[in-house]
Amino acid sequence: MTKAVCPGSFDPVTLGHVDIINRANQMFDEVTVLVTGNPDKPSGLFSVEERMELIRQSVDSSIKVDYCSGLLVDYTTEHGADVLVKGLRSSLDYEYELPMAQMNRRLSGIDTVFLLTDEKYGYISSSLCKQVAKFGGDVTGMFPESVGRAVKEKYRQ
Ligand code: PNS
Repeated sequence: MTKAVCPGSFDPVTLGHVDIINRANQMFDEVTVLVTGNPDKPSGLFSVEERMELIRQSVDSSIKVDYCSGLLVDYTTEHGADVLVKGLRSSLDYEYELPMAQMNRRLSGIDTVFLLTDEKYGYISSSLCKQVAKFGGDVTGMFPESVGRAVKEKYRQ
């Protein structure tokens, strides 16, 4: 039984994330989407509970959704996870992900599996899409529908 964890800030989940999560779900026996604290992004648009709920609304009910406030490798060791799964959009992602993957492997032995982002989601990131939404741009096809509505609602408030 292979257990995979898809970690990230997910503020909020995009269609690019959902595609990676679904593909991981076809490869591994158990998939957990893990909302994880990123010290470089201390304050987000959505609370952790809201992010988790938006993920639940966007993925198959067989996929677990959880939260971890500490070190990612402490969570994966405690939960017996076999691999981390992340998406790679470009060489910029590679540069960002490489040291984290190596650090996580050094700390706990866990490997990171990288899935190449589908080309139709290559330009999509939570931060860029939030910026578009904030200034009233059209984010159709970037977020799952319920997430797109939640983002617009946040900026209306
Ligand atoms: O979606 P993001 O913000 O790019 O994801 C980065 C994330 C949350 C995976 C990374 O910041 C993380 O693993 N945070 C948990 C704390 C931790 O373990 N830090 C050491 C990483 S090598």
